[in-house]
Amino acid sequence: MSTKKADSGINRLKTLERVLSKSGAGSRTDARSWIGAGKVRVNGKVIQNPDHWVDMDHDRVTLDGKPLRHAAPTYLLLYKPKGYLTTWRDPEGRPTVYQLIGEAKTWLSPVGRLDLDTSGLLVMTNDNDFAEQLTNPEHKVPKTYQLKAGTLLSDEQLQALREGVQLSDGPAKPAIVTRLRDGARHTFLEMTITEGRNRQVRRMLEAVGSKVLKLVRTAIGPVRIGDLPIGKWRYLTQEELANLGLRIRVSSSTSGHPRRLRSDSRESNSRNSPKSGIAKNGRRRGARASPPGSRPKHPGPRD
Ligand code: URA
Repeated sequence: MSTKKADSGINRLKTLERVLSKSGAGSRTDARSWIGAGKVRVNGKVIQNPDHWVDMDHDRVTLDGKPLRHAAPTYLLLYKPKGYLTTWRDPEGRPTVYQLIGEAKTWLSPVGRLDLDTSGLLVMTNDNDFAEQLTNPEHKVPKTYQLKAGTLLSDEQLQALREGVQLSDGPAKPAIVTRLRDGARHTFLEMTITEGRNRQVRRMLEAVGSKVLKLVRTAIGPVRIGDLPIGKWRYLTQEELANLGLRIRVSSSTSGHPRRLRSDSRESNSRNSPKSGIAKNGRRRGARASPPGSRPKHPGPRD
């Protein structure tokens, strides 16, 4: 593969550094040092440029002579605080979610968007097919948010949100909208949508003449934030993955390079750190199953 990114097949193309870190072999820093030291070959040839483009489907990458394999499929749930970016690195030096999950887990990517100012549930995985299903509106996986509006909202405004407001990039699909409470000057809402367009909830509130002051994502389908503390993460349970009803990758025990899951003090729950990247217990300790359709328990945005 050339060092220039080809115009077609762009999704298959990743830099050599990214391919190594995504395989779970090590962090991006490790990858750069291995590449610099001449330990990495692409199609038999030593490549010392970390930005060399690799075609994931066709090029053969080896580290120390051993072929790279996929890292074990991993699915985790982070309670993203407001003020954290979901990108790998920020040129302005703002905090990113990778600082919360341990920087060694660079091979995981966030599923869908959460704005800098939005807090709440963020799924991170290395299973691209699963991520695609979770974000593709055709799969209609509901995403639930709680928000504080900048104004009091009338029943007519709520009805407009339910019916599907007009946005600059086309009409929003109807939302499930519940008035949680009214303060003196603000309405608190719960909204469930099945799309994940850029700043969608904020733009929907603007479309009815209000704005979002605080936004928290509390659930993705049956996966709920529950009592996970803000800034902490845990693995999704097998039960949660099964309840999502999406295809997931089957773990292979033949991973070429062991994934390095450091025991990290920021990890919320060391007993939930299995090698498979999925929590083995069907249900998290202390978590209770809720009847389908019941409202996620979350304190929601405060006044
Ligand atoms: N909708 C928004 O407006 N922002 C988010 O972060 C998520 C959904």
